Amino acid sequence: MTSVPTEHLIEATYLIATALFILSLKWLGSPTTARRGVFAGEIGMLLAVGGTLMYQGIVEYKWIAIALVLGSIIGVPLGKVAMTAVPQRTALSHAFGALCVTLVGTAEYYLRAPDVPPFMMGVLSMEVILGSLTFTGSLMAAGKLQEILPQRPITYKGQNVVNLGLLALAVVVAAALVRHPEKMQLFPVIVGIPLVFGVMMIIPIGGADMPTVISLLNSYAGLSAAAMGFVLQSKLLIIAGALDGASGFILSVNMSKAMNRSFTNVLFGAFGQEQASGAALGSEQARSVRSATPEEAAAILAAANKVVIVPGYGMAVAQAQHKVRELYDALTKRGIDVRFGIHPVAGRMPGHMNVLLAEADIPYDKLLDMDEINGEFPQTDVALIIGANDVTNPAARSDHASPIFGMPILDVDKARTAMVIKRSMGAGFAGIENPLYYLDKTLMLFGDAKNFAGAIVRELAGGRE
Ligand code: TAP
Repeated sequence: MTSVPTEHLIEATYLIATALFILSLKWLGSPTTARRGVFAGEIGMLLAVGGTLMYQGIVEYKWIAIALVLGSIIGVPLGKVAMTAVPQRTALSHAFGALCVTLVGTAEYYLRAPDVPPFMMGVLSMEVILGSLTFTGSLMAAGKLQEILPQRPITYKGQNVVNLGLLALAVVVAAALVRHPEKMQLFPVIVGIPLVFGVMMIIPIGGADMPTVISLLNSYAGLSAAAMGFVLQSKLLIIAGALDGASGFILSVNMSKAMNRSFTNVLFGAFGQEQASGAALGSEQARSVRSATPEEAAAILAAANKVVIVPGYGMAVAQAQHKVRELYDALTKRGIDVRFGIHPVAGRMPGHMNVLLAEADIPYDKLLDMDEINGEFPQTDVALIIGANDVTNPAARSDHASPIFGMPILDVDKARTAMVIKRSMGAGFAGIENPLYYLDKTLMLFGDAKNFAGAIVRELAGGRE
């Protein structure tokens, strides 16, 4: 038994942890407070784990210590992956969390069976169903993003019926268990079917929709943790799981909106398939593009009054953010108004560009969201696109046949001149051609983002760095 003072201490720890989780989510909503948000979340989690370790009901600390060491051995390198690999890393974290929830649920069932009250059996079933499908679903999503598995959606006739049928079967078996918790042979079914469902659910979803799916899986993982909170009678888990479930869901909805995709379309459509073979690619290939040297680009920038820099995935790959900062300094020193246009899904994770530009100490007030900056492009002398592609593709506005048709984009083609730093005419994430590159007002600046930005900075400094 846990003594009364210790119990109070644990409760107080949980209360503070809960408040920190809520504040963390709030602070994470803005670049100016995001760092504080991460810190608050970390302290909250530390308190939650610390408080739990004070339970005197813990039989042996030895296994916990072993698990802690093992977890740290796996977790520390996971925390050091490149920023561009964060989406798949996040998917792996969800997979581990969901596996943990499923194992705890399974252990709790076998500890309690056959006397499991209906409510308890209900939440236990929800816990293991959501936990199992999130486990395999997240592994599949990580595999697709890491390109270990094919990104292409794999579809067949009647797929949605098969998938929903599987899920329905798991729910029916769970209902049977609620009525007859003593039928222990049924329990493996509510773990096994969702494990298969998790795989089947991700197979028809293309790589381009994976980030949205990961955030949805995040939501499922949160809900399964909340269900586990009911099983273990932990208020902290219920609250933290519900926060996770709700915030993951809101993020999925926001990401779907930013890509102009409905939720059902993400889950049951097949975006990201072999689009590169589409008509757009063939028709554009014969056209020619205009390119420019760093010297020419520097001259055009130096003559501008207003410049909007649009960063994308290529800036992240090249780790060009510090050179971009130098470019920003060089231009602002000349009295040029420089701002950044940030697309909500530029890069490979929500807030990707904000994080990189913050790392390079670009003032936050110079970072404008798509809705804020789009009205400014017609008065902009130069839109300088650095490693962005899909988020600037005008086909999204006009080409009904384009797979990204309807996705809101940054209207860089409305600026007087568009200059695009990228290494080749290669496609972006959606695998499609970008008509922007063939416009008369567009200049292609072929090269690695860091090198090219560096070369422009040198030119602006008159050949000196
Ligand atoms: P993309 O459309 O993926 O285009 C990135 C471009 O960067 C490529 O065309 C590539 O062209 C160029 N590039 C790569 N390495 C480079 C380097 N070292 N130097 C210079 N350029 C380089 O990027 P975006 O415009 O940021 O759009 C993001 C896309 O990813 C959208 O389709 C979005 O839906 C999707 N997505 C977003 C997220 C989130 S939540 N942000 C997550 C997953 C997927 P070259 O090969 O010719 O250099």
